[in-house]
Amino acid sequence: MPVTLTVAAIRDVTERVREFLLEPAGEAPARHAAGAHLDFDLPVGRRSYSLIDWPDDAPGTLRIAVQREDEGAGGSRAMHALTPGARLSAEGPRNDFPLRDHDGPALLLAGGIGITPIISHATALAAADRPFALHYAVRSRTAAAYADRLAEQFGERLHLWPDDETPIDLPALMAAQGRGTHLYVCGPKGLIEAARAAFTAAGHDDGAVHFELFASEAAQAGDQPFEVEIASTGQVFTIPPGRTIIEVLEEAGIDLVYDCQRGDCGICQTGVIAGTPDHRDVVLSESERAGGKVMQICVSRAKTPRLVLDL
Ligand code: FES
Repeated sequence: MPVTLTVAAIRDVTERVREFLLEPAGEAPARHAAGAHLDFDLPVGRRSYSLIDWPDDAPGTLRIAVQREDEGAGGSRAMHALTPGARLSAEGPRNDFPLRDHDGPALLLAGGIGITPIISHATALAAADRPFALHYAVRSRTAAAYADRLAEQFGERLHLWPDDETPIDLPALMAAQGRGTHLYVCGPKGLIEAARAAFTAAGHDDGAVHFELFASEAAQAGDQPFEVEIASTGQVFTIPPGRTIIEVLEEAGIDLVYDCQRGDCGICQTGVIAGTPDHRDVVLSESERAGGKVMQICVSRAKTPRLVLDL
């Protein structure tokens, strides 16, 4: 559902993370559950930010936090340039990362700014008196958004792992979990993949892993332009570094189906007829990656100069 929001208040949470309290400028968005996000239409394109719920929030509170990526495509810089009173267009809320019903405890794991939906999960689990632990991996204590508030709210259930003091030991963490634990992880791709691998290596069920990718906007160093050919029409487009296949094709008026734009929902999956994808999602299995016959066109790029896509 489209919504117009007004920035009601802004504050810095860390040197790079800024919090925004939003208020509906018209009809209020539908009530959201833990893990939901809003999709914002910014001048640089669509960006998704998770809604953060704290235990004492008034109903309908809309809070997001955005980490500034100086090397990014401009979404976070556009957000950081906002001032109170600014209007924002958004869609949602949507929820690709809900809490599931299960008897076992929840192991919440956040990497960096991936803490935002995890805070809402902790709040919801605490309110429902469900067992959980929250592990938060960060570069340093000063880079940990909401560290004091998290400690105050969740006490001994919070475990902070600053890389420069005590880096998180994922195999040890997963080995210490009881049977029936469900893992909820949000952070960069490397963390999600390592956590999932450690979780299953410790004998837990892969079906009990729930994740949401926090995709940095920053293009990877060394990204090159490549071409995409639309098999049905023969049209060819160049995808420059810093832009996605979806962004370029949509701009050209091609109708596409997608949702998360982070490589974790699987909706934009597209057949590859020729060329080799450079997979950057967290959806595909190892055998699907190796097969190279499908790709997520919201994040993945190409290892060959041209991809022919089944579109
Ligand atoms: S839109 Fe979700 S994986 Fe591409």
